[in-house]
Amino acid sequence: MSAAPDAAARPRIAILGGTGNVGRGLALRWGHAGYDVTIGSRSNEKAAQASAQLNSELGRNAVGHGGYREVAASAPIVVLTVPYAAQRSAVEEVADLLAGKILIDTTVPLMPPKVARVQLPSGGSAVAAVQEMLGSSVRVVSAFQNVPAHLLLDMAHDVDCDVLVCGDDVAARETVIQLIAAIGLRGIHAGPIANSAATEALTSVLISINSRYKVPGAGIRITGLSGADHA
Ligand SMILES: NC(=O)c1ccc[n+]([C@@H]2O[C@H](COP(=O)([O-])OP(=O)(O)OC[C@H]3O[C@@H](n4cnc5c(N)ncnc54)[C@H](OP(=O)(O)O)[C@@H]3O)[C@@H](O)[C@H]2O)c1
Repeated sequence: MSAAPDAAARPRIAILGGTGNVGRGLALRWGHAGYDVTIGSRSNEKAAQASAQLNSELGRNAVGHGGYREVAASAPIVVLTVPYAAQRSAVEEVADLLAGKILIDTTVPLMPPKVARVQLPSGGSAVAAVQEMLGSSVRVVSAFQNVPAHLLLDMAHDVDCDVLVCGDDVAARETVIQLIAAIGLRGIHAGPIANSAATEALTSVLISINSRYKVPGAGIRITGLSGADHA
C-alpha cells in the first residue's frame, strides 16, 4: 500500500469546480488530511460561500478560493470536478497554466437522461481526450469516477470503495495514489489513460446497480491484491 506523504511533502491542490459535490467532498477530505486546497468557480460569490462553509467544517482556514485561472496557477496539482458538458471549456480556460503539472480529471461522460446506460464519447474516453488535447507536457490522471460524491462529503464515515487510477505517466499515477491514500481510500494503478474508458463506463454500471437494488452508493473493490506490492 502506498504511504501518504508527510507534512513537508503536501502539495497545494487546486479544484476546478470545487463548489460542486465531488469538489467539496475532495476539498473536505484533503483539508482534513492537512492539505491546503483552493477551489475554483465561475462565481466568486459562490466560491467564497463554499470555502467559508468548508473552513468552518474543518475548523481551520485550509480552503481558499478564486477563479479557474487564479487557482490553477496556484498549485502543482489541479483537479477537475465539473460536469462533462463543461469539461472541455474548463480545461481550455487554464490549458496554458498546466504545463509540468498533474491534472486529475474526475469526469464521467454521462449523457442525461440515460445515465444508467454506458455512452462514451466517440473517441472512447472523456479523460483520454483531455490528455490528447493538452499534450504530454501535462500529466493527466483519471480518478474518482466510481466514488459517489455523497460518501466523500460524509466525514462521519470512511469511504468503502477503491479508486481506479489511470494515466500514461506512472509517477504521476503514483502521486495521485498517495493523495488518495491520504484521504483513507485505496488507489489502484489501473493502466494507461486509454483505460479511463472502462472507469468512466463503470459509473453507469454502478448507477444501474443503485437503481436495481435501491441503494444510494454502490462502489467497487478490487480483490486478489493482498500481499501484492501496490506501488
Ligand atoms: N456526483 C458523483 O457522485 C460523481 C462521482 C464521480 C465522478 N463524478 C464526476 O465528477 C464531475 C463533477 O460532478 P459533481 O456531481 O460534483 O457535479 P456538480 O455538483 O454539478 O458540480 C460541478 C461544479 O462544476 C461547476 N461548473 C462549471 N461549469 C458548469 C456548467 N456548465 N454547468 C454546471 N456546473 C458547472 C459548478 O461550479 P460553479 O458554478 O461554482 O462554477 C459546479 O459546482 C462530473 O464530471 C461527474 O461526472 C461525479
